Amino acid sequence: MASSYLRLPIQESIGFYQASIGKKMVMAVTGCILVLFVIGHLLGNLQVYLGPDKLNSYARFLRSTGSLLWIVRAVLFVSAVLHVVTGILLWLENQRARPIGYRRRQWVEATLASRTMIVTGLAMAAFVVYHLLHLTFGTVHPSFNHELDVYSNVVKGFQQAPAAVAYIGFMIFLGFHLSHGIWSMFQSVGWNHPRYMPYIQRAAVVLAVLIVAGNIAIPLSILVGIVR
Ligand code: HEM
Repeated sequence: MASSYLRLPIQESIGFYQASIGKKMVMAVTGCILVLFVIGHLLGNLQVYLGPDKLNSYARFLRSTGSLLWIVRAVLFVSAVLHVVTGILLWLENQRARPIGYRRRQWVEATLASRTMIVTGLAMAAFVVYHLLHLTFGTVHPSFNHELDVYSNVVKGFQQAPAAVAYIGFMIFLGFHLSHGIWSMFQSVGWNHPRYMPYIQRAAVVLAVLIVAGNIAIPLSILVGIVR
């Protein structure tokens, strides 16, 4: 009995997801969660400028939240997987729907950031895997300290030029991805009044530049010895 009550909402949800608008909504909601994480993560990481005690006690505080931390991690993980899978599905749909004769015109109208969303998005997925192996698990970090000395992990990690340069490169991809992703999120949920869209578009670029600048500043200032 209960299963027949459940079947309709489940079927409706699947139908909604199968439609392009449903997938765009999923992209907008999961994208919003990921952007909020990236902003919060950056604000936390900027404490590297306040010295080892501040950054390490912040990391210890996060660990002390226990199950709350795991709930946030689960939400992030599900959001990231849904964002990547749905993004690939939408890209495949667009490839199939694109009329060959119009390819040239569409390319002129689209920005570099919008045309490269699939490439910059996949680059970010690769970055997150590398980043976890580097600063969370230490697998690809020559002198990783598992004793929660996050400060020394970050500093020693970015004193290696290839790692610092790789992070800086990935952050440029992040900037392109966010500069298009943040404003297109508003379009996907229907908040696209022609009067406000140019402002939203400019605000998205400013926010993307600030996030990228903050994220690049950390490896760069360690690499050049400002933070040690
Ligand atoms: C220069 C920029 C960045 C620095 C210095 C940095 C630093 C760190 C550090 C130290 C950790 C481990 C924290 C701990 O074990 O307590 C971490 C974890 C993480 N970072 Fe970053 N991060 C940066 C950029 C990013 C970006 C751009 C993203 C996403 C696109 C990201 C996603 C993550 C994720 C998902 C984790 C795992 C969080 C968890 O364990 O719950 N990071 N980061």
